[in-house]
Amino acid sequence: METIRIDKMLSNVTNISRSEIKRFIKRGEVTVNGKVVKTADEKIDPESSEVKIKGQTIGYNEFVYIMLNKPKGILSASNDKSRKTVVDLVPENLKRQKLFPVGRLDKDTTGLIIITNDGEYAHKIISPKNKTGKVYIATLDGALKEDLISEFKKGVVLADGTKCRPASLEILESNIARLTLFDGKYHEVKRMFGVFDLGVNELHRYAIGDLTLPDTLQSGECLLMSAEDVEKTL
Ligand code: URA
Repeated sequence: METIRIDKMLSNVTNISRSEIKRFIKRGEVTVNGKVVKTADEKIDPESSEVKIKGQTIGYNEFVYIMLNKPKGILSASNDKSRKTVVDLVPENLKRQKLFPVGRLDKDTTGLIIITNDGEYAHKIISPKNKTGKVYIATLDGALKEDLISEFKKGVVLADGTKCRPASLEILESNIARLTLFDGKYHEVKRMFGVFDLGVNELHRYAIGDLTLPDTLQSGECLLMSAEDVEKTL
């Protein structure tokens, strides 16, 4: 495990500000394995250290799971030389080493994306064997015909011959659909509608499994997921 500055570790796992943490340290109220911490830049291995503030143990979760309401124009990647990525939107207090998005949303797609540092979890979600539904709202450039519902239910065959898993399509308005997919192929929604000569003007993902984007989470905002939230996506 990599070492990390004690003040950074504490601000990552608590909601105490960095300046407040420095004050605790100055007053000798922070200990690591029973020894008083002298300076805020002292490095520790958070996994094997017992950290206490005023005698209270501070737990360190190695893995974090963050939901982001992705805005348009942001890249689903960890880093990029010139363009802003979803990981750039993670606030300081939730930042960890090696964060990455679980799967991808296109640059112009909005909505729910999960960011984590847990490779095993990400693998479960994006594995082709995974049957977790991903729910999208698609606004199309033409009217939806009722017979698309059965076409999607059968499994759409894409232009290159790839067969998609059966998907559930609900027509919400003449050109707006709710689509639940059980696989995650590249540009899948756009390619599926493309088979029926429909272009996707807007695409928004609002749920992964039973985890829905909270109404209160504004575009560009992140929220730390609880263990229950994580469970809902599996
Ligand atoms: N399907 C798409 O076409 N684009 C996305 O961003 C997600 C699913």
